[in-house]
Order: sequence, then C-alpha cells, then structure tokens
Amino acid sequence: MTTQEQLYAGLDLDLSWSERDLPERERTKHVHRLHPYLGKYIPQLVEELFRRHVPPRGRVLDPFAGSGTTLVQALESGLDSTGVDIASFNCLLTSVKTREHNPFVLERDLRDALARFEHGDGAAAGASAYLRAWFAPAARADLLRFRSLVTDYESADVLRVILARAARSARLTTHFDLDFPRTPQKETYWCHKHKRECKPIDRADHFVRRYTLDTLARLKEFAHARKRRDAVVLHGDAREVELHGPFDAVVTSPPYPGLIDYHEQHRYAYELLGLDDLREREIGAAVRGTSKAALAAYCDGIVGVLTACRAALEPRGRVVIVVNDRRDLYPQILDGAGLALEQRYQRHVNRRTGRRAGEYFEDVLVARLD
Ligand SMILES: C[S@@+](CC[C@H](N)C(=O)[O-])C[C@H]1O[C@@H](n2cnc3c(N)ncnc32)[C@H](O)[C@@H]1O
Repeated sequence: MTTQEQLYAGLDLDLSWSERDLPERERTKHVHRLHPYLGKYIPQLVEELFRRHVPPRGRVLDPFAGSGTTLVQALESGLDSTGVDIASFNCLLTSVKTREHNPFVLERDLRDALARFEHGDGAAAGASAYLRAWFAPAARADLLRFRSLVTDYESADVLRVILARAARSARLTTHFDLDFPRTPQKETYWCHKHKRECKPIDRADHFVRRYTLDTLARLKEFAHARKRRDAVVLHGDAREVELHGPFDAVVTSPPYPGLIDYHEQHRYAYELLGLDDLREREIGAAVRGTSKAALAAYCDGIVGVLTACRAALEPRGRVVIVVNDRRDLYPQILDGAGLALEQRYQRHVNRRTGRRAGEYFEDVLVARLD
C-alpha cells in the first residue's frame, strides 16, 4: 500500500490546494460563478500555469474554452487571449464574462428589465415540448415572460445568461440531481440532500430577481479586477476555425470520453434561447460512451485540435493540458499532434460538492513542439 508520504512526494503541492487554503468563495470569485458549469478548472490553477509558462503581456489560446476560466484569468493576469468552443451557450457565457460592459448601461438595463418583469410585463408565449415537460406552469410563464423582454436591451446577452441560470434552477428536478436529471420530477420526493420531503420548484420569479442582482454585482466586481487586454471568443470546431496566431502558449482542459455532454448539460438554455446546436462536432460526446470506437474518435479529435494549435504556436511556445488521463491516452495523442512531453505535474483535487464529490488526482502535461 502507498503511504501518504509516498503519495505526496509525487505531487506538485503548489498546484494542490486544500479547502482551507482555497475556499469555494475564492474559487468562484466574481464572474466565475455567473452560471453553473460542470467540469471547469479552478482559476488559481490557471493563474499559476500562466506564471510558469506564459511571458508577461503574452498571448494565450484555449481551444476548449468552456465557461471561459482561461480567458477571465488572462484578463486578470494582463494577457491577451483567444478561446474556442463548439457549444454556443459556452461561448455566450464566456463572452458575457469577458466583454467590457458600460457600467451605466448595464446597471440601467438590468434594473429596468427586472422592474418590468416584476410588474408583470412580457408575454408568456412560445413554449416548446421540452419547456412544457421540464417546468411547472407558473415557472414556465415566468421564464417566457422574462425572455420576451430580453431583446429590448443593449445588455441582451447578460439577460440571456440570467434567464438560463434561472431556468436551470427552476427545472422540475430533485435538489440532489441538478447536474444530470433524467426525467422531470413532478411529485413531492424524499430529498437525499436536505434529508426531508421536498417539493419540485413551481415558480422562477425569485430566481430571476436573485440572479439579476447577483450578476450585476459580479460583473461590477470583475470590472475592477480585469486589465484592459483582448479576449476573443470563437464559436466553432477548434479543428477548423481560423485561430489568428501566433500564441505564446496554449492552456486548456480538454473534454474526456464518456464524462460530460457539454451541449446536453445546458439543454434548457438551447431550448429557451434558440441557440445553434453543434453537438455532432463535440469531441468526447459525438460518439457516445467509452467503446473502442468512441475512444479512437476521441483521440483523433484531440489530435486534430492540438495539430491546429501547434500551427498557431510560437516555436518556443508551450502546450499546457490539465487532464485526468486515467486511460493513458495522452502519450499517443501528443505524439500524433507532433508534441513532445516536457514535464508532468500531478495535482491533488479536492472536490467538495455535487454527485461527483470525492478526491482524485489530475495531471498537468507540459509539451513543446517536437
Ligand atoms: C473540460 S471543458 C473546458 C472547461 C474550461 N476549462 C472551463 O474552465 O470552463 C471542455 C470543452 O471542450 C468543448 N469542445 C468539445 N469539442 C470541441 C471542439 N470540437 N471544438 C471546440 N471545443 C470543443 C466542450 O464544449 C467543452 O466546453
């Protein structure tokens, strides 16, 4: 059996934080908590990786930008950045987090939209079959009314993110399964989280209010923390979009086979906002599961993305990949993309919440052009 000492000897302790060193509040500071997102990495890890591998005022690329952690931290660290994602909701979220909002317009728009919503304005029209199945009638009417007001404002995209967050909270799910709900929960149920009987949510107005005010506060806080650097968000397949290099480094956490379906995770947002669905190009989910064929498609996909990144990288640039590669796929992937592994840090991850709570180890692979 491995002793704790042996276990920790192989770890990079500067990249491993305990809950006490780095409480939830810090990990979800300002815009990092604008909307829940499964499978993001923590901002403090990204900050440290920038310090180690990106020159001051450099340019960084994240081909799997997700909820935008890399781009947000690049703005805080004074770096220019570009992020690509295949999931349009993720691009919307990242773009709302990173764009420069006029503080007066933002405050006026959000407060006005909320006041009108609370006054009963807006039309509750246009419910799809999904919306009829997953929301109680009053919750659905609240969301549809708020949706009908969104386009009246310059800050429409911010309001869209608020609407999506309210919808996520108002779905007919149990409290303990917000991440992967399978069927709508219409009856009272025994709640494993609260250890009592709970009722499914039947309205959304309180979420709209709470998240409008919270979003305003978080965007204002980030406006003080950020530097004036570029953050470009590209919606598309990272194997194909034009990346406009050269970049000093790639810093990313890729999808992993059979773990999270990034389109399905935010289904409510696609349904409510009518977003473009490109799931057939989503690596790790387009071919479902972990069969041999799915793993081969996954490896090909990541090789394709890293090959495109390689072509956009400065010759002395580094590719930094955060991944829990339990299937040992990455030696072959790096090789296929013409990259050579230079360093591997192992970090200890302490996951405190959600159905996937528990501890595990994660690798940070640092590669250079071969
Ligand atoms: C692990 S997540 C990234 C999370 C991110 N580091 C964060 O902190 O939010 C992987 C992302 O890769 C995206 N993705 C999957 N296939 C892609 C493709 N072909 N091109 C671009 N992005 C893709 C998924 O939509 C998902 O958002």
